[in-house]
Amino acid sequence: MSRASRATVRPGRALRGEVFLPGDKSITQRAILLGALAPGVTRIRGANRGDDAKAALGIARALGATVRLVGAEIILRGGHLKEPDRILDARNSGTALRLSIGLLAAQPFLSILTGDDSLRGRPVGRVLNPLRLFGADISARAGDRLPPVVVRGRPLRGAEVETGVASAQVKSAILLAAIQAEGTTIVHEPAATRDHTERMLPLFGVPVARDGNAVRVSGGSTLHGTDVEVPGDASAAAFLAVAAAIVPRSDLLLRGIGVNPARRALFDLLARAGAEVSFLDARAAGEEPVADVRVRHATLRPVDVSAAEVPALIDELPLVAVLGAFARGTTTVRGALELRVKESDRITAVVTALRAIGVRVEELEDGWAVTGTGKMAGGRVDAGGDHRIAMAFLVAGLRAAEGVTVDGAEAASVSDPEFLSRLRKLTR
Ligand code: S3P
Repeated sequence: MSRASRATVRPGRALRGEVFLPGDKSITQRAILLGALAPGVTRIRGANRGDDAKAALGIARALGATVRLVGAEIILRGGHLKEPDRILDARNSGTALRLSIGLLAAQPFLSILTGDDSLRGRPVGRVLNPLRLFGADISARAGDRLPPVVVRGRPLRGAEVETGVASAQVKSAILLAAIQAEGTTIVHEPAATRDHTERMLPLFGVPVARDGNAVRVSGGSTLHGTDVEVPGDASAAAFLAVAAAIVPRSDLLLRGIGVNPARRALFDLLARAGAEVSFLDARAAGEEPVADVRVRHATLRPVDVSAAEVPALIDELPLVAVLGAFARGTTTVRGALELRVKESDRITAVVTALRAIGVRVEELEDGWAVTGTGKMAGGRVDAGGDHRIAMAFLVAGLRAAEGVTVDGAEAASVSDPEFLSRLRKLTR
């Protein structure tokens, strides 16, 4: 990803009114990959159209699925996967890469998968090791730790496996292999992570049984294409929710947001920090709960995020740091070592960026402690190619005396190509 673009956000008017967000990125990518695998037509309504979703679509196409884009709808015809004649490029998307590994482990051909500079530095051993218990033949660079990944697809046997790490990507990769394996698979995870794959599989014809943090599926189901309705992305909404919480007089209604219990923790944390948050018109999009989320500014107090809370907040933690700068006192995040293997090392990235805009912060091995004063000088930060770092610090600019300039702001397009224009429309 190029880092050519630079954007500055300065304090503007309060965020008021209502706003629609892009479709959920995690759900969209699952629907694309399952739609490629399942015979027949899959229609994905309200799909995310960011770079990660494009990467998943590129993989689906290279595997022989036909894809049509009609407005915000993706229409796939799947079911006849073929050996790709090129290297599959997941670009910046950990989800596209890891889920594809599981999908391809059971296909009768060779696949090679890679990604951009960031993704080629992110671990894949966490997926390879459990899949080997199914009999999968997969290897990767650097002692099976890093992409590129070579998958020699072959028949698999179901197994009882532990993910070892609280990762929905790992769990989902295993489930995508398991539904194509002979026999039954039980996946145990150390803590509950987002469950979009489990909710979606029955739509494609695969029964799923769940018991606490265990998921059981069997191979042999006849998959079929389906309609998937994608809710608004809770993680994209989180940036505007924090914007509304930190900018005085804001009162923002985020329409049609996915409020899956494994994804809504940031909204609950905002309420804990003192912002006024309410969930209106609770409804469903397919198997996913949806609501309109109203966020109103209030004086913020510091919060502590413990290890147990990390999985449900994993993508929102940079925002918790920004929030901490505007609450008087110490906001801590602990037990978040996983942040070091995201699109960037998000612990170092958050600490470096906060210091660059005049905020006191202590770096911990597994998190940080931010000393908030309720205000911020502002300055210039580098997104380091990480969409969530770019967006979190653009939001910080809304309350920074001199504003915040983000180098590499275009990284936001990984999840939300309209992020900056939407933020500007709301605040100018
Ligand atoms: C995702 C799961 C999370 C999250 C990522 C998307 C998914 O990663 O950080 O942005 O779509 O399953 P891990 O499962 O590796 O924690």
